[in-house]
Amino acid sequence: MENSTHERLLIIDFGSQVTQLIARRLRELSVYCEIHPYQNVTDAFLADFAPKAVILSGGPDSVTRDGSPRAPQALFDMGIPVLGICYGQQTMMEQLGGKVVSGEGTAEFGRAYVTPEGKLSLLDGWFMTDKEQVWMSHGDHVSEIAPGFAVYGTSPSAPYAITADVARNFYAVQFHPEVHHTPNGAKLYENFVRIAGFSGGWTMGAYREQAIDAIKEQVGDAHVICALSGGVDSSVAAALLHEAIGDQLTCVFVDHGLLRLNEAEEVVGMFRDNMNLKVIHADESDLFLGELEGQSDPETKRKIIGKLFIDVFQKYADQIEDAAFLAQGTLYPDVIESVSFSGGPSVTIKSHHNVGGLPEKMGLKLVEPLRELFKDEVRALGVELGLPKSFIGRHPFPGPGLAIRCPGEITREKLEILRKADAVYIDQIRKHGLYDYIWQAFVAILPVRTVGVMGDGRTYDFACALRAVTSVDGMTADYYPFSHEFLGETATRIINEVQGINRVTYDITSKPPGTIEWE
Ligand code: XMP
Repeated sequence: MENSTHERLLIIDFGSQVTQLIARRLRELSVYCEIHPYQNVTDAFLADFAPKAVILSGGPDSVTRDGSPRAPQALFDMGIPVLGICYGQQTMMEQLGGKVVSGEGTAEFGRAYVTPEGKLSLLDGWFMTDKEQVWMSHGDHVSEIAPGFAVYGTSPSAPYAITADVARNFYAVQFHPEVHHTPNGAKLYENFVRIAGFSGGWTMGAYREQAIDAIKEQVGDAHVICALSGGVDSSVAAALLHEAIGDQLTCVFVDHGLLRLNEAEEVVGMFRDNMNLKVIHADESDLFLGELEGQSDPETKRKIIGKLFIDVFQKYADQIEDAAFLAQGTLYPDVIESVSFSGGPSVTIKSHHNVGGLPEKMGLKLVEPLRELFKDEVRALGVELGLPKSFIGRHPFPGPGLAIRCPGEITREKLEILRKADAVYIDQIRKHGLYDYIWQAFVAILPVRTVGVMGDGRTYDFACALRAVTSVDGMTADYYPFSHEFLGETATRIINEVQGINRVTYDITSKPPGTIEWE
């Protein structure tokens, strides 16, 4: 709440699976919004948040059930525009004097068509034909609209699909405009924020200035340390902090010896030499690889790496005098609290996998300059801050690095072979213009040697697996459908250019049942 200089829209969450999509649609319209669970939105919260408009989300409960969620009644006396969606529509009607009924014959799930009744500015650009496709998902429906409301759209099962009290700027729709199955739904949000008078000033250029001021105010003349991984989030956080506080920022780049070919040099080179950041290159590969020797159990390998990472980071951080803050690249999806129907609000704040627990242990306060942003906004901010596009668009890379792409025991020999094969594979993908169509691509070196022939000789070398997947968030994934030409050419290049590999396979497992990484 500290950063209240921008116009804010409040989304009150009643627990719909797609509430985040409402926020996405609004951010795409350059409108700043926050999602808060209904339990937290008290009258005092509303007054403090001072929203310019409010959206009531959908949700799984039934307005007809005693004790079901409500919006704070004070909301409707604030004189600001309110848009209710699905459950939000129903509670709005009920709270303003209408009626909602449950049950037979009123449910509607899936694709539906709404036909218009009269003109409404919320619907500008809609109904280019006589009907509009929408996505419905409701058991209950409004049976009597609240005083002051009129009907502007109906569907076969929802006589009040679109209603509004234009004088008070209250709008209510039974369907979900935020999902792709409502193809023109974004237009409805665009109209709503226009009616509410948003200037659309939430751009990464504007955010950059505000964020810099906020960081300066929070940090003062104290020192900040940041674990730089070379991933998009920590890189953008570091670049932003550097712009705000310059030499008061020191980054620690922990090199565990499990990085890709030339990765340490590239990351340190870019931040230290090109951007003038203070970067400590903590080359601790001997320590990590030493402790990993002889270990082949995936969980043990992860645990060793996680623990050493914290020890090493702390060792270097301790050397930085008057460090008072730890910077983290926490993003907005990590801090959204989700609605729980089994009790109080369930807080799903994830701790950073690499430095979890460290701030308390070291007595450091947190500075999290990206906690208001979605991933694509972080990328846009990175470009705004001058980070190279190739860097911003990089595939995710896991904290334990190549350790989880080297099933079984890790040896320096295997790592070296893996690095070379991975570099050839990624080079192929870039050359064929496929990099940006793929969520993540990498090579895994298999713990098995196979027989081959090269020239006149017999070989006995490692086999490797290529992995490439498409995904939206890493939770589910499909293998990427490369052409056989591409796969053949890549296999030939790897076998010719990388000594130690004589067999290449392509992993066509989706997630689930597989995972993206091999360990
Ligand atoms: P899986 O293999 O679980 O991976 O399907 C999903 C996504 O998470 C990444 N990943 C990790 N990232 N530390 C990380 O920072 C980890 O221990 C870790 N394990 C998996 C993986 O690369 C993919 O993007």
